[in-house]
Amino acid sequence: MMDFFKNKRVWITGASSGIGEALALCLAEKGAHLILSARNELEMNRVAADCLTAGAASVLVKKLDLEQHDTIPELVENTLKQVGKVDVLVNNGGISQRALALNTTLEVDKKLMAVNYFGTIALTKALLPNMIMHQLGHIVTITSLTGKFGSPYRSSYAASKHALHGFFDSLRAELAEYQIKVTLICPGFIRTNVSKNALTGDGSKLGTMDEATEKGMEPTRLATKILQAIQEGKQEAYFGGIEVLVIYLKLFFPAYFSMLLLKAIVR
Ligand SMILES: NC(=O)c1ccc[n+]([C@@H]2O[C@H](COP(=O)([O-])OP(=O)(O)OC[C@H]3O[C@@H](n4cnc5c(N)ncnc54)[C@H](OP(=O)(O)O)[C@@H]3O)[C@@H](O)[C@H]2O)c1
Repeated sequence: MMDFFKNKRVWITGASSGIGEALALCLAEKGAHLILSARNELEMNRVAADCLTAGAASVLVKKLDLEQHDTIPELVENTLKQVGKVDVLVNNGGISQRALALNTTLEVDKKLMAVNYFGTIALTKALLPNMIMHQLGHIVTITSLTGKFGSPYRSSYAASKHALHGFFDSLRAELAEYQIKVTLICPGFIRTNVSKNALTGDGSKLGTMDEATEKGMEPTRLATKILQAIQEGKQEAYFGGIEVLVIYLKLFFPAYFSMLLLKAIVR
């Protein structure tokens, strides 16, 4: 495990906070070359400094807004000019939702898809020709348990994460001949700012920490598990607490799952 990521070039989106930050620090400790992307440059510079202290081989900060799809090809071109190739792309940047579908404007529905789905596939597609040229690469996307089942207050968030599963399952089959791997990571409740940053029905941020998120897994612990899954070349992995079992509940007892969902207080 120690040497696997040493000197690997890893591009992480959503690296200014939470899971992305924890992944960056874990990879830094293993001596990886890091490319950190998100919108908030101040926060990314803070993470970059911590990564250098932790032992990163190098750190490049590249500002990225996943909603600005037209800017992505140029960003990728510039980045590749500097680093040559990317061994691992971690599509982690994203925003959640905390509002009933009935109260969510279509603008907010579109924003969730624009950031979580179209932004992620835009970055992936821009990087793909380089990965194919080098016959090398691993594309890792952080979806969610709600990429496997829908739950209240998260309709378009769940839709955007389900969409990622459809896209990346197809892509995995298309890329097998080039030795490029695709991994989907589905976390449950992880203690980050995800609920504070989640959009409410009118597009404003929720601003508060959910109880379930507060009690969730530490992002550093998740980061270690994600790196293990990448190293093992897993196609899909579920991480979190007891909530992970809901995946199997839906699979084997769908009627019971639906009944349980009615009682779920997961906001
Ligand atoms: N925490 C959980 O319980 C949980 C569970 C399942 C899945 N996830 C997923 O894990 C990923 C990371 O979330 P987190 O929990 O670490 O939450 P977080 O602390 O809110 O971090 C979200 C990250 O995404 C970035 N981001 C948001 N909008 C962006 C945009 N338009 N362009 C570029 N970057 C953007 C943010 O950076 P800027 O604001 O600087 O742009 C930030 O770095 C998300 O995809 C989330 O859906 C989280």
